[in-house]
Amino acid sequence: MLLRSPHARSRRPGSVPLSLLAVCATLAALLLGVGAPPAAAASSLPCDLYGAAGTPCVAAHSMVRALYASYNGPLYQVRRASDGATANIGPLSAGGYADAAAQDSFCAGTTCVVTEIHDQSPRHNDLTVEGAGGAGAADVGAPADALPVTVGGHQVYGLEISAGMGYRDNSTSGVAVNGQAEGMYMVTSGTHVNNRCCFDYGNAETNNMDTGNGHMDAINFGTECWFSPCYGQGPWVQADLENGLFQSDAGYSRNSSNTGTGPLPFVTALLKNNGQNHFALKYGNAQSGGLTTTYSGGEPTAGGYSPMHQEGAIVLGTGGDNSNGSIGSFFEGVMTSGIPTDAADNAVQANIVSAGYGGPTGSTGTLSPGSEISLRATTSCCTGHYIRHQGDAGVLSTVTSSSSSLDKNDATWIVRRGLADRSCVSFESRNYPGDFLRHYDYRLHRQPMDGTAQFRADATFCPQAGKSGTGTSFASYNYPTRYLRHYAYNLYIASNGGSHDFDSSTSWPDDVSWAVGAPWAP
Ligand code: AHR
Ligand code: AHR
Repeated sequence: MLLRSPHARSRRPGSVPLSLLAVCATLAALLLGVGAPPAAAASSLPCDLYGAAGTPCVAAHSMVRALYASYNGPLYQVRRASDGATANIGPLSAGGYADAAAQDSFCAGTTCVVTEIHDQSPRHNDLTVEGAGGAGAADVGAPADALPVTVGGHQVYGLEISAGMGYRDNSTSGVAVNGQAEGMYMVTSGTHVNNRCCFDYGNAETNNMDTGNGHMDAINFGTECWFSPCYGQGPWVQADLENGLFQSDAGYSRNSSNTGTGPLPFVTALLKNNGQNHFALKYGNAQSGGLTTTYSGGEPTAGGYSPMHQEGAIVLGTGGDNSNGSIGSFFEGVMTSGIPTDAADNAVQANIVSAGYGGPTGSTGTLSPGSEISLRATTSCCTGHYIRHQGDAGVLSTVTSSSSSLDKNDATWIVRRGLADRSCVSFESRNYPGDFLRHYDYRLHRQPMDGTAQFRADATFCPQAGKSGTGTSFASYNYPTRYLRHYAYNLYIASNGGSHDFDSSTSWPDDVSWAVGAPWAP
């Protein structure tokens, strides 16, 4: 049989008819070029804010944007499979968003992995692919196109870490050591997590080994509950201080209201530690609102944590000893010298929100890459039914204007260039960044893109005129006689007649013909 399974995203039909005035305004905006998203964002970016507060960044890593208003250097490096050549990807302009189009053209016709994440701070604490450690063999780089997201209306790529992937710098400058104070945050995702050790960003050992309590000071994000009890389902923002993922001075959670972020698509995770007798953990929705403090108090009472014994390496995606069974998403993160004020943290969170993670692309209802859509069945049974994910399955469900926002998000997809063939399309989940609709055993699923040729093929669909004479049909890239079909309210790639019940030729032309429309999710 075939392959594995999938994940996806979109927005909704405005029922308000465009007035003549709105049409004129739109035309005027287009003529003046004001409809395009700005290439640069606010005048003070996270490292400007922390610097002004007296706690300068000593590391500033981002896949998606500059973290200083004046920064115009490389953000990250990719290496392509075809000839082993590398290219640096920078911002579109000083202080701007990543130039993902440069990556797309460099990687066209082949695949790329991320080989380096540059430090934008003057310290040059660049992260490269992590070597072997006490608990894991050498890591590999993450696929460069596995996590397409939108920031500030620009399509950019986050870093999607699978097991066996991680980045590190064991020879840094300016990073806290031996009980010095520091702060750090990262923007990550609540939808791509597991309970394995240890999706971390922050301070770690300089030899990839577990050298004892207090030798790490890193943000951990995932569903691994190291010290019971933890409350709720997670994922939780925790402190990896070595030999434990801490939610408090006792290790376990002292805060029964900290049930974790749930599957929030974009999460701000924050840790600060004065290195002597205090640490604090915070999280926020990176798309709106402020930060919530889940712990603020003493260092762990077990031996070795007070004072801390940080070594000053920087790790991303693994534990301190390169434990690398964890998965996670990384968009941006910084480390500071000194413990930042709450006011500075709040200003940084406001800037992250204003950056517009996953915000509207301004393009809806078409099959152009970047457009957000919903896909409606056209069979007479089912003209109020849409393709959505439920759990990890792709199914056909009724969605109406009074459906819950969860249902609307589940039925919304972002059109991406086909992961296996740029002339076809792939469908990324709106509320599960980096998850795509793919077939496995002929059934449709929502799953995280893993960079393999198999996944790419299973998640690629080639649009053509609807087989019933209406709408659009989507041929499977690797099974070109099979088309995206609903059958008994489940989704398949199906041929017109064949051995499976879902290949039934009864109503096949209607079942494989879809109305591509404006997305349900706002
Ligand atoms: O503290 C949790 C983990 O324990 C660390 O990341 C790792 O070094 C050790 O295995
Ligand atoms: O998917 C709903 C219906 O189930 C399809 O129209 C038909 O093929 C099957 O009976």
